[in-house]
Amino acid sequence: MREMRIPFGTITITDKSKKLILDCLEKGRISGGKYVHEFEERFADIIGAKEAVAVSSGTDADTLALAVLHDIGAQRGDEVITPALSFVATGSAVLHAGFTPIFVDIDPETLNIDPDRIEKVITKRTRAIIPTHLMGKPAAMDQIIAIAKKHKLVVVEDAAEAYGAKYRGNNIGALGDMGAFSLYVAHIITTGEGGIIVTDNTQFAEILRSLRAHGRVCKCKQCISNINSGFCENRFSNGEKGDIRFLFERIGYSCKMNELEAALGLGNLDLYDEILEKRYHNLRSIMEKFKDFSTYLWTFKEESYERIGPHAFPFVVKKGAPFTRDELMLYLEHQGIDARTLFSSIPTQCGGFEFLGHKIGDFPYAEYIGRHGIHIGVHHDVNEKDIDWFFSSLRNFIKAREYR
Ligand SMILES: Cc1ncc(COP(=O)(O)O)c(C=O)c1O
Repeated sequence: MREMRIPFGTITITDKSKKLILDCLEKGRISGGKYVHEFEERFADIIGAKEAVAVSSGTDADTLALAVLHDIGAQRGDEVITPALSFVATGSAVLHAGFTPIFVDIDPETLNIDPDRIEKVITKRTRAIIPTHLMGKPAAMDQIIAIAKKHKLVVVEDAAEAYGAKYRGNNIGALGDMGAFSLYVAHIITTGEGGIIVTDNTQFAEILRSLRAHGRVCKCKQCISNINSGFCENRFSNGEKGDIRFLFERIGYSCKMNELEAALGLGNLDLYDEILEKRYHNLRSIMEKFKDFSTYLWTFKEESYERIGPHAFPFVVKKGAPFTRDELMLYLEHQGIDARTLFSSIPTQCGGFEFLGHKIGDFPYAEYIGRHGIHIGVHHDVNEKDIDWFFSSLRNFIKAREYR
């Protein structure tokens, strides 16, 4: 057993973040205000979107983005198309937003929703598609957007794992109608816990600001009451209906980001390019060296028209390998290498979704990954020595299994 561990994720807390957090604590200004606003502005700018709306988690980001559909004609129970393989939150979000998830199997070469299967499941009740860019690998956005346009569907990108990912020169997250990111601690930009939705649609951004705060009527981009504890002229502009801060015009959620979280995130944004570069270097280095293991293990490829966002390194145990995924994972854990499964088929391998009535065999590719997939960290504190340790461990494990 190795003393040192290679953890899946890492967190960078900068001096600037500490200073901002202290400032919040000293002023007693904790709930969302100027730092959340600044974080939103800078995040939107980085992704190349007009607006960004910060929330409490990536799951909330997915949920709220989908809940916007209620304002543009969707009915509760309408359908949202989503990949069978993703982190479970993508499927949960569809249900939390009041819709029925329609799962589609993946393309095993990309780990993402198979675009050729999408049109077959579109019905009169389909309202949206939420592709995930799993492990930072861009989904087939050209085809997805073309299908969405043809059938008048909204596209919400689950970009939780896709910081730094590009598709035909464009940033992932800025291609669909909305892009939802997670700011959870293992992700490339973190606020500890958190999420953020980007969009070019100012109406959607207003709805999102209302949704994160219980569905209230007021939804200014910069709330004067929260930022300067100032008086808001608009609060009683609604005539007899009363204070717009306490009028609720849609079914909302309570998932605002607070100032302490935004302060953490602002420090991270200062290092965004640096973090991204280090992680991408690690990912490419692992992908290159991994070619020697292709007899028993598969990983994804980077195509010329894309850049994979360096979230993590995924690999899959091939059929006929002389070991199981779980044996390999256990071995890696013993070697101090934090290893995770590559998620599961949400409809058939995640118990909470049983009530939808799918059965094992309905999503064979997603299920295969669910039983044979692994991912490990490529974060900015992983160095060449760690990478060498991973490969020597892998080599020793395989050698021992081959001669068993
Ligand atoms: C693809 C995907 N979607 C959604 C989420 C949910 O994000 P959070 O954990 O911030 O709720 C995650 C989390 O890791 C994720 O990987």
